[in-house]
Amino acid sequence: MPQDPKRYTITSALPYTNGPIHIGHLAGVYVPADIYARYLRLRGKDVAFICGSDEHGVAISMRAKKEGVTPQEIIDKYHTIIKKSFADFGISFDNYSRTSAEIHHKTASGFFRKLYDDGKFIEEVTEQLYDEKAGQFLADRFVTGTCPKCGNEEAYGDQCENCGTSLNATDLINPKSTITGTKPVLRETRHWFLPLDQYDAFLREWILEGHKNDWKPNVYGQVKSWLDDGLKPRAVTRDLDWGIPVPVKGAEGKVLYVWFDAPIGYISSTKEWAEREGTDWEPYWKDKDTKLVHFIGKDNIVFHCVIFPAMLKAEGSYILPDNVPANEFLNLEGNKLSTSKNWAVWLHEYLEDFPEKQDVLRYTLTANAPETKDNDFTWKDFQARNNNELVAIFGNFVNRVIVLTNKYYDGVIPVPVTFTPRDEETLAELKKYPEIISSSVERYRFREALGELMNVARLGNKYLADEEPWKLIKEDAERVRTIMYVALQVAGVLGVLSEPFLPFTAKKLQKMLGRPVSEEKSPWDAVTEGKDILSAGHRINPAELLFTKIEDAEIEKQLECLEQTKLDNKAGNKEVTPQKETISYEDFAKLDMRVGTIIEAEKMKKADKLLILKVDTGLDVRTIVSGIAGSFKPEEIIGKKVTVLVNLAPRKLRGVESQGMILMTQNSEGKLVFMNPDDAADNGETIS
Ligand code: MF3
Ligand code: ZN
Repeated sequence: MPQDPKRYTITSALPYTNGPIHIGHLAGVYVPADIYARYLRLRGKDVAFICGSDEHGVAISMRAKKEGVTPQEIIDKYHTIIKKSFADFGISFDNYSRTSAEIHHKTASGFFRKLYDDGKFIEEVTEQLYDEKAGQFLADRFVTGTCPKCGNEEAYGDQCENCGTSLNATDLINPKSTITGTKPVLRETRHWFLPLDQYDAFLREWILEGHKNDWKPNVYGQVKSWLDDGLKPRAVTRDLDWGIPVPVKGAEGKVLYVWFDAPIGYISSTKEWAEREGTDWEPYWKDKDTKLVHFIGKDNIVFHCVIFPAMLKAEGSYILPDNVPANEFLNLEGNKLSTSKNWAVWLHEYLEDFPEKQDVLRYTLTANAPETKDNDFTWKDFQARNNNELVAIFGNFVNRVIVLTNKYYDGVIPVPVTFTPRDEETLAELKKYPEIISSSVERYRFREALGELMNVARLGNKYLADEEPWKLIKEDAERVRTIMYVALQVAGVLGVLSEPFLPFTAKKLQKMLGRPVSEEKSPWDAVTEGKDILSAGHRINPAELLFTKIEDAEIEKQLECLEQTKLDNKAGNKEVTPQKETISYEDFAKLDMRVGTIIEAEKMKKADKLLILKVDTGLDVRTIVSGIAGSFKPEEIIGKKVTVLVNLAPRKLRGVESQGMILMTQNSEGKLVFMNPDDAADNGETIS
């Protein structure tokens, strides 16, 4: 890739709309991608920063099943939450699309059709896993089993999350359906396969030889290990009812594999953007002078470094990514982030709790970015970074400069008098930072880049602390003019260089300095060239606080929330049972439920769980056998008001006839709880 490409296409992984965005997604993908895009724009580059929702695939169907709604309802709900939270958080996508959009269906179908027409697929009837109970084929997340490579017993049908290996469902040892829990059988079905093995030489040359030195070792290493294991043809179609129909005769009822359609979503989203902007999308994907960069998490490496490039290569007219700077994972308070276990800091909730603190989270996630290894987010660290770094260094420096300039000079930048060696040094050092930070950003070392940005604030802070203009103002007002002039230059540079990392702060700071960054084609380059960022005579505005202290109570509140999640998870109660099928009122009216009182209770011999109860139902006193001995001692429930289903057909349990059922539920710790009627209700009253 030439040093100075004509344009940049920056993609960040399309999030599945099966849940909201959490800090793991942000740290791994969206914050670094946004820093990169904002940085390039500041340098006056032509950038398309592309994303959208990934709305097909099994994750969505499963979530829909779990919540008892349609996949469409699920994607609409989460697409809306995700899109809004990204916007509120300042992720500066040029376009945020969705794969259910018509333009995407067309683009993905067209792409498949082209490969099909060019004979790039193998069409084959093979035996695939089939769940007889659910009546459907199983692939991807619909099946788990033991990973043939590392022995992880919870590998999925498309990938093992433990070792990262990409799998075919039939590779799993002891496969099990995630829908019904049953063991699948093999059944024949026709599918289209991309013969990845035929791309081995191409991938070796392009990545193993071509990107040995500029791709991250974790990415390069994973690719090498797959290639060394030997690639196999991979099915790009599925027997599912949610997805993009396979555009081929005889493929009715089949859809494109989600990992075939989703990355094409980058292309469709670019098309949507270009159409809106009145520009041409093709150069962004087909011109060799375009630098394409995919920001992803480590679980997406195989798809972006092997499968999608093979697809692009097969199609023939596309460029390949110049880099795929995948990150490792972020943990939360020592545990793996998990959407299903609700172990996460959700972006939309964070924004509710800290509506003005986007940059604090951006800062913490970048400072702790899992760039080379998994990392941990803790609320205490979040607080410390805010209070000890953003408030104490960055905020403090800026505040002093602005307040003093307003106080001494009524906000007008003074004309410097004589520069001392220290002033010269400070200004000279300042001018080095754009290049230092650029170099880190361009090598995708955002954490290092942020550290250097803070060094600019440290430089200013130390300069002021040493020069003490507030002490000198009485005896040497002339000297103070120069000091304040120098300090203002540092603040001005901070206002430019902080924009990619802390965009809300940069905006506030630029407003205070009265210097909108948009005035220059490339403000970044203006700083590099050593142009004065703020000239004498220019008037700045009153001070506003850039950061405020975060108190212990706020952090404790967050930690309590997480404690509660742990309790909920312990109770195993997080899995909400899906709503059952709709019934008619007539069905409901058949249930005869009454208020009753337990008047006797004893343990059933040789049965741990069962109690034999005598219940006064208002109609009679009857015997009911109830499986509640694990939660209650007989003596504690005598006299309890309960809800009884009285017309349930009697049945014998361990020889005792049970003539009804007591209605119960479970609390978050898994303990059974009676559905108690109010004490005012009399035995025998019906419930309707
Ligand atoms: N939805 C996938 C995930 O969250 C990422 C898709 S990236 C794309 O893991 F390339 F397919 F779009
Ligand atoms: Zn594995």
